[in-house]
Amino acid sequence: MKNLLPELITLPKIEDPRGNLTFIEEENHIPFKIKRVYWVYDVPGGQTRGGHAFKEQQELIVALSGSFDVLVNHGNGTQRIHLNRSYFGLYVPNGLWRHMDNFSTNSVGMMLSSTFYDEMDYIRDFDEFLKFRQNH
Ligand code: TYD
Repeated sequence: MKNLLPELITLPKIEDPRGNLTFIEEENHIPFKIKRVYWVYDVPGGQTRGGHAFKEQQELIVALSGSFDVLVNHGNGTQRIHLNRSYFGLYVPNGLWRHMDNFSTNSVGMMLSSTFYDEMDYIRDFDEFLKFRQNH
């Protein structure tokens, strides 16, 4: 399988005494068209989200508020990326196992996705993910 790795993208930040502003344009700041946006919030302390891979979905993960860690595994080790600024986005290509933990109180994690929701795109079993990596 192509060995694409996650990439931390610094998004535009328009600094203003009235408050800062950040934006994302599809195929400009991120390498895909946005089909879906979802976010996680009210995450109780100690909880984990994610814990699966996507066959096709590419995504950008943004800590809109607060902070959390994204753990990305490409089948041969895990990389932990701490997100704590809303002008950083973590691009996660398809075919990587990822989960999120260490959510701060009142944090909001936004995911921009290249696909519509499709349960068939999920790989929820880690051994199945390792087989998928070997075969792609
Ligand atoms: P899931 O992606 O498994 O959450 P996480 O990986 O963060 O634990 O989604 C949880 C539930 O929400 C699952 O039953 C599917 C549903 N869901 C949708 O219906 N649409 C969506 O866009 C997403 C992301 C999830």
